[in-house]
Amino acid sequence: MTQDYDVENIRGDFPILKCQVNSKPLVYLDNAASAQKPQVVIDTVSRTYSEEYANVHRGLHHLSTVATENYENVRSKIRNFINAANEDEIIYTSGSTESINIVAHSWAMPRLQVGDEIVLSVLEHHANIVPWHFLRERQGVSLKWVELDDDGALDPQRVADAISPATKLIALSHMSNVLGSKIDVGQIVKIAQVYDIPVLVDGSQSAVHGPVDVQALGVDFFALNGHKLYGPSGSDALYVRGDRLREMRPFKGGGNMIREVHRDDVTFADGPQMFEAGTPAIVEMIGFGAALDYLTDIGMERIAAHEARIAKYTSELLQKESWVNQQGTAPGKGAIFSFTLDCAAHPHDISTILDQQGIAVRAGHHCAQPLMDYLGTNATCRASFGLYNTQEEADKLLEGLSVCRDLFS
Ligand code: ALA
Repeated sequence: MTQDYDVENIRGDFPILKCQVNSKPLVYLDNAASAQKPQVVIDTVSRTYSEEYANVHRGLHHLSTVATENYENVRSKIRNFINAANEDEIIYTSGSTESINIVAHSWAMPRLQVGDEIVLSVLEHHANIVPWHFLRERQGVSLKWVELDDDGALDPQRVADAISPATKLIALSHMSNVLGSKIDVGQIVKIAQVYDIPVLVDGSQSAVHGPVDVQALGVDFFALNGHKLYGPSGSDALYVRGDRLREMRPFKGGGNMIREVHRDDVTFADGPQMFEAGTPAIVEMIGFGAALDYLTDIGMERIAAHEARIAKYTSELLQKESWVNQQGTAPGKGAIFSFTLDCAAHPHDISTILDQQGIAVRAGHHCAQPLMDYLGTNATCRASFGLYNTQEEADKLLEGLSVCRDLFS
């Protein structure tokens, strides 16, 4: 506990943190994959199903009206959370994967042609790679890869150097899900604007760890994840700046996204609904709204400060141990740590041994195989911290790693 951030109190809001795993208190360090849910989110989901559930946008009866209102209210909560200018710039999606696919199919595919280029970095998650491979394979678009500094930082100058007259889009993560490096997107947008190149930002990790202001950043597209923001899985959103939204055509066709459908023609709903075909993740989105209220009550600045303390502490702790090989030590990095050990233990072994001690981490390529290639490995172990984690849990991580080292040395 620090003076202004009562982490024990916050931990009390998360029922799962009271659980034991393998007869040990749970130490949950897999937040970059998905975060745990506070009671208020669980209660909101439960209340919605118990008392306020119906399909949205379709009925005139009481429950449908209540559900529609609760569901649509989340749009302004997301708008506030990332400081978008208008709630019509918020598209509800099922995940950053869907968000980036929407941009690829609705904005990029109709306008990019053979020889056009998309600039990416080698630290991207597959969600911000594979949709662009579709354009490479199907439309002859080239992918240009920006490399990193030795500490895992991405220098905006490298992005500037990758830009050519053929560049039609820059698509970058705001924070690496593997290294924790934070990318100076604001600086990159300034460079891109000189050439009138749109910038898509995968904010899946960054939006969790500190305040985001899409207007100040000047980005065209920004994806964020409800399930990493302590909300339900399937509750995610894509910000598209108004002028770009008007350039996009629909991706998925079906109910809810139309104005009129006839035998020989169809017209589409305006705004974000054009991209939200079918029955959506109603309850999940309402739960996401509760998660955003919860985070806003605590304050994203305070969460960022807490996590910065943990990141510094954990970084120093791991760096003192010569047998822990940390990947990514960029200044100001977030509380996401990838490492291997100087012993025969594969990252999967490390994860299994940590699990025996109640410690949950992720091991593998973290959906970032180009980054693994770049680092010259095929897997790492990753510990990722969230708003409820403590320095004592970082100590437990190191104790767990020592057990592993002793077993495999
Ligand atoms: N994107 C998630 C991760 O990094 C799944 O683990």
